[in-house]
Amino acid sequence: MVDPEEPSGPPRAPTGTRDVLWPESARWEEMVARFARRAQRAGYGLVLTPVLEEARLFRRGVGEASEMVTKEMYELVDRGGRHLALRPEGTAPVVRAFVQHHPPTPWKAWYLTPAFRYERPQAGRYRQHHQLGVEAMGSDDPDLDVEVITVAAGFYDELGLRRVELSVNSMGCGADRPAYLSALRAFLEEHAGELCDEHRERYRQNPLRVLDCKRPQCRAVTEAAPRMVDHLDEACAAHFARVCAGLSALGIGYRLEPRLVRGLDYYTRTTFEFGSAALESAQNAVGGGGRYDGLAEAIGGPPAPGIGFGIGIERLLLACDAEGCFAAPAAAPDVFVVDLTGGEVARDLAEELRRAGLAAERAFDGRSLKAQLRLADRSGARAAVVVGPAELAAGQVQVKDLRTGRGDRQVARSAVVVELVADLGTAPGALS
Ligand code: HAM
Repeated sequence: MVDPEEPSGPPRAPTGTRDVLWPESARWEEMVARFARRAQRAGYGLVLTPVLEEARLFRRGVGEASEMVTKEMYELVDRGGRHLALRPEGTAPVVRAFVQHHPPTPWKAWYLTPAFRYERPQAGRYRQHHQLGVEAMGSDDPDLDVEVITVAAGFYDELGLRRVELSVNSMGCGADRPAYLSALRAFLEEHAGELCDEHRERYRQNPLRVLDCKRPQCRAVTEAAPRMVDHLDEACAAHFARVCAGLSALGIGYRLEPRLVRGLDYYTRTTFEFGSAALESAQNAVGGGGRYDGLAEAIGGPPAPGIGFGIGIERLLLACDAEGCFAAPAAAPDVFVVDLTGGEVARDLAEELRRAGLAAERAFDGRSLKAQLRLADRSGARAAVVVGPAELAAGQVQVKDLRTGRGDRQVARSAVVVELVADLGTAPGALS
């Protein structure tokens, strides 16, 4: 296909998407590794599903009328005429996989996924972002809600974030929500004139959206709106009480936020969001989730309750920057090989060191001694191995301790790998 409006110049990453280069990517690696460890400790296994799904999955799952589907979803027709979508979120695909493969329950999965939404890009809001998440299928035990929320809360804590606040609410269920919606609609009817332009007309179709509206006019009206938590039936009220009690028992601070409805249609009962007080309020949600006990059925599967959350990695990193925590881990090599004899020694010795388990780096392109030593210093390596013509002739290498700068020593070329492994591999820190 030829793009009639093809821009000039070399191609760039599409608007609203970002490249993550090293060393920033080292933070991503570390973040994902920590999340994986935490999820696995709680019994969640990794699930991988395709980035492309049938578009109808999200229509049925996230909601035909939701903004995510009507305005933000990237849809395409493939060469075989299939209607596909790039996933705008991670939950519906995981539930689809659960319905398709019916694994034994409870089925607990964690994931790392890109998500695509055609939104207006700004700081903390991208057209491709990435989520770390969990989904737990097949149980409606409120203690599972507590477990899921605790995995996320513990993760923020482990990263060193101290200004992340948890809001919780209950959305009720199919049994008690209709009566609540009538009460909410009647209240909004009385105050229609005070609502923002968008909701003055549209509150009747989906009154819950008004609760989610961040504009000051709607905020002022909904302050006094009827609350779902006051309209829960007995089972939903007992469920929510048990969730709140569980959070308190585990020392997880939370605030009841009766207007928290979240933007996806599948939520039932417990919903929650983690907001960072260190970020601009418009994009301060660093994670959110809830129960979706009707989702498996909505996409055509057997009934199966479920709960999970998604954490936006980019936003989480912005929150870490704002709080000055979770710096990029240093990725320095153990050894830098400086070769002034044509490069063969660097080629062979670097590989020998790597095979022995050390991180080894070297210079290319026949650089001068000065340039190679500068690179070695800049790399943060703990030791340098220098080979000049004299060392080569004598079957020796020179080992330099770059951390202390002390005690260069000559070592036999044949013994240097074993010696460096003994020095660096077992006892991190300066060379002995
Ligand atoms: P969500 O609230 O739409 O929920 O997204 C989860 C998180 O992804 C947000 O809290 C935010 O950190 C991040 N995020 C969302 N949109 C963007 C964006 N445009 N740019 C950057 N970050 C963004 C879900 O997606 C649900 N699937 C969560 C869930 C899992 N519920 C149950 N299970």
